[in-house]
Parts: sequence; structure tokens; C-alpha cells
Amino acid sequence: ETEKLPYKVLDCTPERFEELAAFGRKEISLAENEMPGLMALRQKYGKSKPLAGARIAGCLHMTIQTAVLIETLAELGAEVTWSSCNIFSTQDHAACAIAKAGYAVFAWKGETDEEFDWCIEQTITAFPSGEPLNMILDDGGDLTAMIHDRFPELLSGIKGISEETTAGIHRLEVLNRTGKLGCPAINVNDSATKSKFDNLYGCRESLADGVKRATDIMLAGKVAVVCGYGDVGKGCAHSLQRYGCRVIVTEIDPINALQAAMEGFEVTTMEEACKEGNLFVTTTGNKDIILGQHMVHMAEDAILCNIGHFDTEIDIAWLEAQVKAGKVTKVVIKSEKEGAVDRYTFKETGRSILTLAKGRLVNLGCATGHPSFVMSTSFTNQTLAQIELWKNAGEYETKVYLLPKRLDEEVARLHLGKLGVKLTKLTQEQADYLGVPVEGPYKSDHYRY
Ligand code: NAI
Repeated sequence: ETEKLPYKVLDCTPERFEELAAFGRKEISLAENEMPGLMALRQKYGKSKPLAGARIAGCLHMTIQTAVLIETLAELGAEVTWSSCNIFSTQDHAACAIAKAGYAVFAWKGETDEEFDWCIEQTITAFPSGEPLNMILDDGGDLTAMIHDRFPELLSGIKGISEETTAGIHRLEVLNRTGKLGCPAINVNDSATKSKFDNLYGCRESLADGVKRATDIMLAGKVAVVCGYGDVGKGCAHSLQRYGCRVIVTEIDPINALQAAMEGFEVTTMEEACKEGNLFVTTTGNKDIILGQHMVHMAEDAILCNIGHFDTEIDIAWLEAQVKAGKVTKVVIKSEKEGAVDRYTFKETGRSILTLAKGRLVNLGCATGHPSFVMSTSFTNQTLAQIELWKNAGEYETKVYLLPKRLDEEVARLHLGKLGVKLTKLTQEQADYLGVPVEGPYKSDHYRY
């Protein structure tokens, strides 16, 4: 397509668009009440507009919570364009509401891989002035990669990148190590108030939401296998345990494996776990975790899903090749628009397995992702990172930075009131005894929470 579009969302009638936009708007206003960090930033910076002049292209799941982020960035003065960072994660009512509010959004649920790239590409130049982006807000690094690989001439005009997730941080670190990083970046993921909340408590609620909306399965009594016991894996394992699953963990890192063991989980290899599990969840951010050689041993209607960022963890391609070879039959239980539930039956044994969201992240593919409150902690970090890079670009070298601990603590502070938390105040004597300022920061940079 060559025609420049102001936005592109779900292909539907004007009436349906209005209906979805109206529903989206109602849910956005509910979400605002659950996102105190973002609303506090609007209050604090709405007048001074620290993001004036910024043209932020965002590539992050186009959900209701993200709509609140977009409108916060705009209220702080930025021009914003948006695409989703996964083909299944857009909530169409959120995208329609954002389009109706006048933003250049390019996202719908069930994009093809080609449409996905096309959407990201549109966000580079779809600003009212026609000038290209000068800030990147990314989740997983696809926009960052596109700019570095295909539009490197734009890098000199970009003041910074803020990156949301573990998978994107790995990619930024590779760019940095190989000398290819083209502008300063802030690692939002490793703020304590991001990875120790969103990855952990977010997945603790949204994993089961995805599995249940997809399959309506009873979790109590089942054997669940959680691959990886990082922040996401911890949230998933604890959630499933509390539902009454017997949880088995797989790990490659002895520290994480020991943590899992000391929380009472059995830790073993996939070769053994594949014979026991009724539900398999990959959380490693790695590749080749569940392969054909494991799938053939699984129990009848074992459910396979992934909550890591990319669809590299479960070998869906192997299953599809078996279908082509006539060794496996496939029945689509739910279409891609409905969350993609597929049932594959091995002809030789007659046994079936179920895959959710075609191995893409299940909480956003089969449900609506994390709840608003925890996304507020993540997105408050995102907004502070954007302000920091835009306002103080001169102070940053072409490297990957963390937000200062003072701001990390501030993000947490902004979320206490909503939960009725009463914080104890250090006395001057206590602060002197610990050697920290009364108003923080309270911990050293290597403290792990
Ligand atoms: P992490 O690095 O804390 O945890 C990953 C764990 O997997 C590590 O402990 C690692 O040792 C382990 N691992 C690696 N290879 C393995 C293998 N072959 N077998 C077993 N374990 C293995 O990363 P985090 O923060 O937990 O993120 C994991 C993934 O989830 C990333 O792709 C991240 O981007 C994504 N993510 C997804 C979210 C969602 O809402 N769906 C939210 C936050 C993160």
C-alpha cells in the first residue's frame, strides 16, 4: 500500500467502529481509576508539558491499559503514533477508541506477519507534521530493530529508546555489545517496579485468565509444568499452585532451580516432565523448550501455552509439518480472532494435545493481558523514561541505562495510596544509622528485592 492512512484498525462498518470506540472509551475510563501512577503524572506534568516536541512511535500491545499510556504521553505534550507488538494482542475496542480520539494507531487483533510489519512501518512517519519519529517506546524490540536494520538514517534524529520487556533488553544488549546501538536507551524492564511487579504479579493473574478463557479447564488437581523460574515463571508457578495444581518446574540456572525447589516445587527436566503434565507453560524467553519429542509423550488433551515474549519456545512448526506429512490431524477449536485454540491428534497413538494462541503469548492472545493496576507501575516507568531521555538527551551516551532508583521508588510511592498502604517514615536518627537520606533512595543499586 502506498496511500498514507491516518490510522488503520479492525476492518468493519462505520457503525461497528463507533460501537467499539464507545465501549473502548468506557473501559479506558475504568482503567484510569486503576492506574494511579499515570494519572499522577498527568496531574504533575499536564501543565508544563515536558514531552512537547517529542514524536513518540510506540510499539506495544494495543490494549485498554496502553490507551491510558498513549493519552498520558499526549497530555504531557508528545505527538504519538502506535502499533501493537504482537499479531494477536490488540484489543479492537481499545484501538478504535484511540483512533477515534485522533491518534495514528495501526493495530487489530489477528494481523498477518506482513501486516504486522506494515503497521510498525506506518508509525515511523504518521505524525501530523509528516516528520519522522524522534523517540521510540518499544516492547520486545521490533520497532528498534526495524529502525536499525532498515532506516538507520533516522537514528541520528532519535533521542532515545525506552524498552519494556526482558526479550527486548536482550536485543538491546546485543546491539550495544556489537557497537550497533544508534541512540541512548533506558531499560524499563529492570526497574524494580517493572520486572518485580508486572512480570511477577501480572503473570500471576493473567496466565490463568488466558488459559481459562481459551479452554475453561479446571486447574485444581492438574499437573502443571512451568518452564523457567525467572520473574514470569515465579508468578505462573505460584498462581497455578494456589489454584490447586501440582506444579513441576524446569530450569537451566542453578540459582533459580534452587529457589523453585525451596518453594516446594519439583524441579526436573522436560524429558521427564513431558510425561506428567496436563498443562505446560513456557516462560523462558529462550527457544526450543517444548519440541516434538516431548509432545508425543504427553497426556490426552495436554494444554501447551507460552507466556514469553516470542513464539520461539514451543515448536508449533514441527506440529504443522506433521500435519502436512499426514501424521497428525488438526482441528481449529477457536479461530485467531477468538484466541486461537488448536487441537492436534497424533494418528499413531490417537492422543491429542491443545495449543493456545499458536504458541504466542497466551495472556494477551487468549485474554486481555495484565490488569490495569500493575500496568500502571510499568507504564509510569515508561513515561518517566521518555521524559528523562527527551529532556536530558545530552547527558546520555549511546548505551543502555536503568532509571535512577529515586524514580523507581517514586513509581512505587505513587501506587501506595490506592491500596491504602501506610508507609513508615524514617527518623533522622534511623536514617543516619543506616546511612541513607530520610527521603530515599533507601537501597543500594545491587539490592535485589
Ligand atoms: P527471566 O530471565 O527472569 O526468566 C527466564 C528464566 O528462564 C531464567 O531463570 C532462565 O534461567 C530460564 N531458562 C532459560 N532457558 C531455559 C531452558 N531451556 N529451560 C528452562 N529454563 C530456562 O525473564 P522474565 O522476566 O521472567 O521474562 C521471561 C519472558 O517473558 C521474556 O520473553 C519476557 O519478555 C516475557 N514477558 C512476558 C510477559 C507477558 O505478559 N506475557 C510479561 C513480562 C515478561
